[in-house]
Amino acid sequence: MKRRDFVKASALAGLSASIAPTAFARARSRLRVGIVGTGLRGRSHLSLLLDRDDVEIAALCDIEQFMLDSALKMVADAGKPKPRVYTGSDDAWRRMYADGKLDAVVIATPWEWHAPQAIGAMEAKIAVGCEVVAGITLDDHWNVLRTQQRTGTPYMLLENVCYRRDVMAVLNMARQGLFGEVVHLEGGYEHDLRAVKFNSGEPGAPYGGGVEFGDKGWSEAKWRTPHSVRRNGDLYPSHGIGPCAMWADIHRGNRFVRLTSYASKARGLHDYIVKNGGEAHPNAQVKFALGDVVTTQIACANGESILLTHDTSLPRPYSLGFRVQGTGGLWMDVNQSIYLEGRSPEPHKWEPAQAWLDKYDHPLWKKYAGDAAGAGHGGMDFFVIHAFVEAIKRGEPMPIDVYDAVAWSAITPLSEQSIAGGNRTVDFPDFTEGKWRDRPRIFALDDRY
Ligand SMILES: NC(=O)c1ccc[n+]([C@@H]2O[C@H](COP(=O)([O-])OP(=O)(O)OC[C@H]3O[C@@H](n4cnc5c(N)ncnc54)[C@H](O)[C@@H]3O)[C@@H](O)[C@H]2O)c1
Repeated sequence: MKRRDFVKASALAGLSASIAPTAFARARSRLRVGIVGTGLRGRSHLSLLLDRDDVEIAALCDIEQFMLDSALKMVADAGKPKPRVYTGSDDAWRRMYADGKLDAVVIATPWEWHAPQAIGAMEAKIAVGCEVVAGITLDDHWNVLRTQQRTGTPYMLLENVCYRRDVMAVLNMARQGLFGEVVHLEGGYEHDLRAVKFNSGEPGAPYGGGVEFGDKGWSEAKWRTPHSVRRNGDLYPSHGIGPCAMWADIHRGNRFVRLTSYASKARGLHDYIVKNGGEAHPNAQVKFALGDVVTTQIACANGESILLTHDTSLPRPYSLGFRVQGTGGLWMDVNQSIYLEGRSPEPHKWEPAQAWLDKYDHPLWKKYAGDAAGAGHGGMDFFVIHAFVEAIKRGEPMPIDVYDAVAWSAITPLSEQSIAGGNRTVDFPDFTEGKWRDRPRIFALDDRY
């Protein structure tokens, strides 16, 4: 970003800060943080939080002793004081919030808990960093939004992919006009999760080793797979849509207007059970509702189209399938290539993207690449926690805010409606109630967070 853009951006950020909720508008130097859900993801956040001098891990909550013990060991190994522990029932988190000693909570529980646990925290004036997704039903999303508006408590969706290094470099390029006017975007969650959706149920062995799920599974196999049995839609939209929303300035002068979804037949999970557990295994009788490949087309108010893909039940290498295309050219992450008309060496020929990504490396990555080294998912996990902590400390608005959270997550119930209605086109609710038109950009404007 050019210096004058930074100056303009900082001024806008200052303007937004002046309307931040009062209780959190004061700066603070250190946060007392609790974590609800100390499973695989909660512990990944814990590890980043333990590295920080401006955070005290004040409380942990989980219902499974193995998970809590693993988290407590991490705290002890880091030489930090033992946090208070809340457990014993599904609503132990209510006691943790009621004790009144937290500034912020990180929620990393199964999806169905996100909305109630976030709403409870906001009511208790505890800032929320919520793992993806924000809720299950459309009502959940409205309730999360209304609670945030009523209480003024900060709420951030911890969508880490927005902070991926290439995604941020491409954001930098898009903001500087290298793709011309952005016209079409693609993204998705294209990740072979078969060995995540099934395992042996043994604590400590989350990936593969069996074809059990639900009550007999462990970690995500316990709670994620039942969604594939019952639901047919894009069940995990935010890793794909988050970056697209930032590239398209959604809720900052643009919005999603309507969507249409298609689901392929469901074969992959049954095939995996038969191959790994045999035809006679009881789970070979399970009928999965979730189509193996679910595609969703979204129309935006400014005329862009977005293609989103959910593909988690078939053999395939991991990819989020990003594409940013405009009047000046395009970038695609699958072939790690770019083509910029008049700038790429040869017409109609792909060019390796890396030199462009290096040249337009985002200021945040330039500053914090060293701190991010070793953090989860290629370092991007460092940035999402860093942003959450820094924005609260400074009393500034959340960079991925409640409007982003509910709109990105609402793609799931809307895509389910579309598919159930024979690929019906469904109108997208305007969660901002018109405010999308003039809200200024705030995401990743500089090198602070
Ligand atoms: N952003 C990312 O890259 C990323 C990666 C992995 C997971 N996630 C998300 O993080 C969340 C957790 O996923 P995970 O892989 O850690 O799953 P997990 O099953 O390993 O962990 C979930 C934890 O929540 C606990 N839990 C369940 N109900 C609870 C309750 N009522 N109160 C307190 N604790 C409760 C479980 O005992 C478990 O320890 C999910 O929403 C998932 O989608 C995000």
